[in-house]
Amino acid sequence: MNAITRLATVISLATLFPLGAQAADPKGTVEVVHWWTSGGEKAAVDVLKAQVEKDGFIWKDGAVAGGGGSTAMTVLKSRAVSGNPPSVAQIKGPDIQEWGSLGLLSTDTLAPVAKAEKWDSLLSKKVSDTVKYEGEYVAVPVNIHRVNWLWINPEVFKKAGIDKAPTTLEEFYAAGDKLKAAGFIALAHGGQPWQDSTVFEDVVLSVMGADGYKKALVDLDQKTLTGPEMVKTLTELKKLATYMDANRAGRDWNVAAADVINGKAGMQMMGDWAKSEWTAAKKIAGKDYQCVPFPGTDKAFTYNIDSLAVFQLKAEKEGDIAAQQDLAKVALGENFQKVFSINKGSIPVRTDMLNDMEKLGFDACAQTAAKDFLADEKTGGLQPSMAHNMATTLAVQGAFFDVVTNYINDPKADPADTAKKLGAAVKSAQ
Ligand code: GAL
Repeated sequence: MNAITRLATVISLATLFPLGAQAADPKGTVEVVHWWTSGGEKAAVDVLKAQVEKDGFIWKDGAVAGGGGSTAMTVLKSRAVSGNPPSVAQIKGPDIQEWGSLGLLSTDTLAPVAKAEKWDSLLSKKVSDTVKYEGEYVAVPVNIHRVNWLWINPEVFKKAGIDKAPTTLEEFYAAGDKLKAAGFIALAHGGQPWQDSTVFEDVVLSVMGADGYKKALVDLDQKTLTGPEMVKTLTELKKLATYMDANRAGRDWNVAAADVINGKAGMQMMGDWAKSEWTAAKKIAGKDYQCVPFPGTDKAFTYNIDSLAVFQLKAEKEGDIAAQQDLAKVALGENFQKVFSINKGSIPVRTDMLNDMEKLGFDACAQTAAKDFLADEKTGGLQPSMAHNMATTLAVQGAFFDVVTNYINDPKADPADTAKKLGAAVKSAQ
């Protein structure tokens, strides 16, 4: 065979058996848009991918870089507008209702899975209500994250002469002063709006308590948003910002986490997906690092529930619908709930597992999270995270993000003026 004939044979074979088709599984494909792209997050999502592939489906990865999901949401919207949505996407909290009202999510794909797997009895009502649209499941919840954590490198604390984790804002500032004096970055931080607002909501919770947090960030009560407690919160936030890494602009959260892991910084305020980075670095909770509730917030739990929503597909795409159903079934299965959360830093969303965390092999941080989640559910301490799409619409969240980030980056900004701005921005976004 000469070269031309060989090439012609290759081309005709390729036409007959295109590469994709050769590898294609007749069972169907699921394309998943998500933003789990840090080392630890990727290890977690790979658990889902591996199981879906093992079940005979093709996983098309739609990862969009950028923690917190703002970029992923922009990509998702533009794909939906151009009539090309993926079959599954990471969509959370009240936003699920907005996507549902556009008629883009499927209200019948998950029903048989939910019934067979008894989802209603596995999930708390608060969770199942969030992932249902007009009474039908349109998304599968995968885990629960706690946002109000402070991550500490004890070795760095020791070198700076600090003997215990701070439990009040005053102790936090004192620790920050010692860290700075010893030449460390006191508070590792990435200057991105969602990270700034993660810090802001921790301070709201610390200063105002769970009731004040609810009034300001969930009920969007104007009096609370512009009142003296908000002015105090913003005053504390200004002080706290002086401990943040000066080179934080645009830095990803996992890069900031690495500064604490590698001993350059003493602390980071971040949800427990930060633990996925410690786990990926083979560090042990309680030994190599400490997780404590952010000072003043130990009686509260700001939650962030990750969920994967299923889009409406054409009825003839039976295989792809089966792939959506398989993913949903896997996601709430006991083994996945355990392995995924251990990698991700979260706790299971299945209530039957939350009482058995030690037996299931979860570490000290996860055991504390589960205990606090169950306790705070009874006292009103359990509150949805504003910074992580759980409390408000994305429009209102955007108003918070703008005001908070501008404030943190302008040392001259006045807390009282900013509280007024916050009230006005939230009102006009409602
Ligand atoms: C959150 C998400 C988490 C984690 C984090 C950083 O919004 O719920 O799962 O991925 O962003 O990317």
